[in-house]
Amino acid sequence: MKGIILAGGSGTRLYPLTMVTSKQLLPVYNKPMIFYPLSTLMLAHIREILVISTKEDTPRLKNLLKDGHQYGIEISYAIQESPDGLAQAFLIGKDFVGDEPCALILGDNIFYGNGLGRKMQESVEDAQNGIATIYGYYVNDPERFGIVEFTKDPDKPNKNKVISVEEKPREPKSNYAIVGLYFYPKGVCELAEQVKPSARGELEITSLNELYLQQNNLAVELLGRGYTWMDAGTMDSLMDASEFVRMMEERQGMLVSAPEEIAYRYHWIDRQTLIRSAEFFGKSPYGQHLMDVVSGKMI
Ligand code: G1P
Repeated sequence: MKGIILAGGSGTRLYPLTMVTSKQLLPVYNKPMIFYPLSTLMLAHIREILVISTKEDTPRLKNLLKDGHQYGIEISYAIQESPDGLAQAFLIGKDFVGDEPCALILGDNIFYGNGLGRKMQESVEDAQNGIATIYGYYVNDPERFGIVEFTKDPDKPNKNKVISVEEKPREPKSNYAIVGLYFYPKGVCELAEQVKPSARGELEITSLNELYLQQNNLAVELLGRGYTWMDAGTMDSLMDASEFVRMMEERQGMLVSAPEEIAYRYHWIDRQTLIRSAEFFGKSPYGQHLMDVVSGKMI
C-alpha cells in the first residue's frame, strides 16, 4: 500500500503567511503542518510515501522530511506544475503508485482520535480487496466541502451505503463532509485518467469517487464523536488547529503527531535512531518529549 501527501497549491487563502513558504510548512502549534498528515499515513501502516508539491516548495519539504529513513519509511517527491485538482495527484504519482493500492491525504488535513489507526488499517484491507473508502465527518457548513449522502446498508449491519457524492453543493444532501483522506484500490491512476475537469476547471477528487460509486466499489466510514478533523487551510482553522494541539499536548503530556515517536512505537526505527533525533531536536519541547519516549517515561 502506497500513500500520497498532496501539499501543493498556492496557499493564497493564507496570504501573506504563504508568500515565501508553503502552507504545509506553517506551524500548527509546535510542528510544521505536514507532520500531521504524514503521521496519519504512518498510523495506517503506510511506509512508502510520495509528497507532491510545487517547484518552489519541494526543496523546502525535502530539507525537512528528507528520504524518510529517520522515520523508518521511504519518502519521495514529485512536482505539481499547476494546481489542477486533487485527482491530479494520481496522474503525477502514476509511476510511484504502480500496480498497488494507494491512499491520498491532503497536506492541510489534521486528524486526531483513538482507534484511527485501526480504522484506517481496515480501509487498507478493503482497498486491497478492490473497495475504495472515503470518510464522512459531520459539519455545520456543508457547502464548503465534498459531501456524502448515505443510508444504512441493508446487507451489512453497522455499515453505510453511499448514495451520492457531490463537490461543494449549493443544496447539500447531508451534513457529512468528505474529509481529505481517501483509500483507493490498485488501478486508481488509470481510473483517474477518466476524470474530466469540473465547471471550475479542476480534476475533482469527488469525480474520482463518483466513478468508484458507479462501479459499486465505494464505502464510507464515519468519523464520529471520538474524532477531531480539521482542515487547517484558512486563518481561523489554522489558529484553531494550533490551539487544539496545544491543549491536547499540555493536558495529556503527549505529542500529537510526532513521526519519530510513531516509527519507534511501530518498531520501524531502533532506539539509537530515536536518540539521534531527540538529540538533534535538543532542548525544544519536541526534543525533550522524544527523550521522554527514549527513557520510557512516556509509555
Ligand atoms: C477539498 C475537496 C473536498 C474536501 C476537502 C477536505 O476541498 O475538494 O471534497 O471535502 O478538500 O478538506 P478544498 O479544501 O480543496 O476546497
